[in-house]
Amino acid sequence: MSDKLAIHGGPKAVPDGTIKPWPPIDDTDRQMVMASLEGHVHTFGPNCKAFQDEFAAWNGNKYCITTNSGTAALHMCVAACGCGAGDEVIVPAYSWSSSVTCVLQHNAIPVFVDIDFDTMNIDVAKIEAAITPRTKAIIAVNLHGLAVAMDKVMEVAERHGLKVIEDCCQSHGARYLDRKVGTWGHCGAFSLNQNKCLCSGEGGLFVTDDDAILADAQKLWSFGETRTPAENRDYHAYALGWMYRNNDLTAAFGRAQLTKLDGYLDTIKANAAVLTEGIRNAPALILPTEPEGHEHIWYNYTLRFDMAALGHAADPAAFRGKIVEALNAEGVANGVWQSFILPAMTVFQAKNAYGRGCPWQCPHSAPVDYSPEQFPVALRHQASHTGMTMPLRPPNGTDVAELMAKGICKVMNNIDQLET
Ligand SMILES: Cc1ncc(COP(=O)(O)O)c(C=O)c1O
Repeated sequence: MSDKLAIHGGPKAVPDGTIKPWPPIDDTDRQMVMASLEGHVHTFGPNCKAFQDEFAAWNGNKYCITTNSGTAALHMCVAACGCGAGDEVIVPAYSWSSSVTCVLQHNAIPVFVDIDFDTMNIDVAKIEAAITPRTKAIIAVNLHGLAVAMDKVMEVAERHGLKVIEDCCQSHGARYLDRKVGTWGHCGAFSLNQNKCLCSGEGGLFVTDDDAILADAQKLWSFGETRTPAENRDYHAYALGWMYRNNDLTAAFGRAQLTKLDGYLDTIKANAAVLTEGIRNAPALILPTEPEGHEHIWYNYTLRFDMAALGHAADPAAFRGKIVEALNAEGVANGVWQSFILPAMTVFQAKNAYGRGCPWQCPHSAPVDYSPEQFPVALRHQASHTGMTMPLRPPNGTDVAELMAKGICKVMNNIDQLET
């Protein structure tokens, strides 16, 4: 292969058309979605109920509620854990925005904790220092397919009488100490959007083993009511409710995909192993880790560039942008997942979620500092990472992972070609 980078006109390492789209669709999907369409029960139809039961069984939870997004399921977790006006909820400084804005939705106050560089998850050793008398819950985000060390989170939470919410939106099937995510905390949320390892187009799943938490989550889910649309409703708002229900069509799609999820995860793990082997010796790359006791599902295979070794410690994000562009030009489909850490986002810097400073100006709230420099690890990660999702997913196999590895090695071995 020519060493001339594709971005400068050289041949692509991964030819056009190599990477196949996600998720794979077969006759199971076609038949189940068409049967739902022709079943004419689209509001909380039989597929919704069946999906709840099947996912709860798959994940090892007592209860599951199907929702119209992972964000909805997260908001249900926050409300069902009793977080309200002025309560503080501990969250990681780096994640998807709604891992944390779900706290604001219930007028509670997010308190950020920095991440651990190796795992990219909340630094469990720093959680206890963030606890105050107002703290009500901890949101542990199992980011990119790697579980948080949940035994440590649960131990701190139990000592302080806190609830634990697991954001499992990126980590269906990931395990820690042989237990699946979503079975450690008091409740958890999964996403079913286009990118997720279990995809139904859009949608989410709320899980818990706790009857009281289930009852409160269910009220928020459907107009404050206590009965599902499949039951004899009294149309009475027993609490402040939203409309977070899923529909039968997407539940049918989700059910069909669930029958294939274990196979998908096996393929992703095999592809990730081949990619890791292929790039192990590439210069200036920091590879993702799978610490002892964890089973990673590689939702997002995240690389960090060693900017000090590359001589770009002063302008990491700018040079990272050049590498990302060069990789994409080679056909190595990759991208920066979050280019802001969460406390740096405008909603937190302006402290203006509901307008007029609410909820931070609420008389129940205490002042909280969102200066981004308090979170140096998240800032370092944010400025130096890129990630890959679809290329490692089926129907793509190890042949694609090998080509991806070649493309990454080509760019990293010829990085001087980007120094213009
Ligand atoms: C970590 C994390 N939390 C929450 C969400 C929200 O999920 P959804 O898009 O289904 O609302 C996502 C995905 O977008 C996510 O990646």
